[in-house]
Amino acid sequence: MSQQINTVTVIGSGTMGNGICHVFAQSGFNVHMMDINQGALDKAMGTIGKNMDRQVTKGAISEEDKQQAIGRIKTFTDMAEAVKGSGLVVEAATENIDLKLNIFRQLDQHCDADCILASNTSSISITKIASVTSRPGKVIGMHFMNPVPVMKLVEIINGYATDAAVSKTIYDLSVQLGKTPCMANDYPGFVANRILMPMINEAIITLQEGVAGVAEIDTIMKLGMAHPMGPLQLADFIGLDTCLSILNVLHNGIGNPKYAPATLLVNMVQAGRLGTKSGEGFYKYTPGSKDLVVSERLAHIK
Ligand code: CAA
Repeated sequence: MSQQINTVTVIGSGTMGNGICHVFAQSGFNVHMMDINQGALDKAMGTIGKNMDRQVTKGAISEEDKQQAIGRIKTFTDMAEAVKGSGLVVEAATENIDLKLNIFRQLDQHCDADCILASNTSSISITKIASVTSRPGKVIGMHFMNPVPVMKLVEIINGYATDAAVSKTIYDLSVQLGKTPCMANDYPGFVANRILMPMINEAIITLQEGVAGVAEIDTIMKLGMAHPMGPLQLADFIGLDTCLSILNVLHNGIGNPKYAPATLLVNMVQAGRLGTKSGEGFYKYTPGSKDLVVSERLAHIK
């Protein structure tokens, strides 16, 4: 039988963290959103409000539903306070192994003994994360996709020691969120990024070799394969630093040279061109504009 969970703590209030809070609150859970600074939490509450407004505008939810969902979210800067009474913690901090291991060590100390600890990691080993806790059976991957309120998938990753009952609880909970869960085992990149990242990397190598320009590569993949975004735009949307770190996990973990990150990707990350979050990646982004303008640095490749 599934464990009953009423309160969920989400660690991190960035794009993924606030999206995860959004869907849990909308599905009737009490949500504790935790970040290390109050400014980030205030910004995240503003983002959740704006994203719920989109749903109100198109009639998916009422203004009252929105207010009730927002009312279910409390913000915290102290971890011990944030996890009090929670049956589940979903960690959605930056994709950095040392940071995540440190967070899980602290969570293990502060959370109730029966609390499930989930990570939204896109590639870091769940078994490794679980190994720094005293409850490896209760550690699992709960990988949401961006934008969380829109994307239907939750990739559930079972670590080597994850209890079957914990997998079932997280599976049922994902269904309760209106998502479609899919189970994967703990290998580098799991399923989603093991398949997505080599495609993005190949698109970057295709650009690097001058096979075609940015707009052409994206249009070919968008219109030819019915993808909602071309791979280069998607890389900007995910964050080029995140793409690079996932490719490094694949390359180091599987050891096959086919996963080696494109030199152009490495250079762009080193130059701070990280995609939408930095204002420029393969495209240049102007706040308030939806136009896709190819970065001047790459416009010579046609
Ligand atoms: N919250 C709520 N609703 C949102 C939203 C958000 N954050 N973002 C978009 N929407 C809604 C819009 O209101 C709109 O709703 P309607 O169609 O009902 O009017 C709908 O989503 C489409 O949005 P837009 O019209 O603004 O723009 P679009 O049609 O270009 O779609 C997109 C935007 C949904 C992001 C689409 O381009 C898309 O699906 N892109 C691919 C996304 C993807 O592949 N995500 C996975 C990335 S990988 C990942 O996350 C994990 C990892 O490990 C790297």
